[in-house]
Amino acid sequence: MFKGALFDLDGVIADTSTLHFEAWKKLINNYFSAKLPSDLEEKTKGVSRADSLKVILNYLEVSVSENMFQQLLFEKNEQYKESLKQLSPDNILPGVATFISELKQQKVKLALASSSLNGPLILEKLTLAEKFDAIVDPSKVENGKPAPDIFIAAAQSLNLQPLECIGIEDSIAGLKAIKESGAFSVAIGTNSDLKTADLHLSTTAELTFAAVRTAYHQ
Ligand code: BG6
Ligand code: MG
Repeated sequence: MFKGALFDLDGVIADTSTLHFEAWKKLINNYFSAKLPSDLEEKTKGVSRADSLKVILNYLEVSVSENMFQQLLFEKNEQYKESLKQLSPDNILPGVATFISELKQQKVKLALASSSLNGPLILEKLTLAEKFDAIVDPSKVENGKPAPDIFIAAAQSLNLQPLECIGIEDSIAGLKAIKESGAFSVAIGTNSDLKTADLHLSTTAELTFAAVRTAYHQ
């Protein structure tokens, strides 16, 4: 049996994924009077705030000064934090609270492996912080997703090997990171690239201890 569960946050635990892209869309409209196409959202998922901005600037084919880059990062986060003010346990995705309870019952250790610097704040607002045995600080990890570093660090923070853990993701970058870490990959979402996970589920409502245990043993 697996001994640890390494969780992504945005789009796995909470429905905050779209709030990130909404914040980027507003910012880019204000600064560049440009609209971002919806298919860009997937490319900004899972990766750090700075890497998301690089993806967007690359799409717009604009380059900005370092000062401007930092300013854009700051303002995006201000916008995003504004949208987090309304966040409550109602924003926990379907089935996730029960799944976390099941893991705790089974004595599985929990770690957060999110690229978001807002992770601790969000877990507090969802009243889930005390359920986690460890939260990896993404600023302390050398290479962001799709590199495996954050999942390796998350397993280490539980005193486990990645092989003893499951990792749960909704982004393509995050799934790559789990796979490279050696953990058992659980991917959630409808993008076809997610179907290469060890266990693929369409929504969090299907995320149950029984489903993961069965897949893990096969
Ligand atoms: C990830 C999101 O969880 O966190 C990305 O999927 C986001 O879209 C990244 O860029 C960083 O989040 P934050 O809160 O530090 O800007
Ligand atoms: Mg995510």
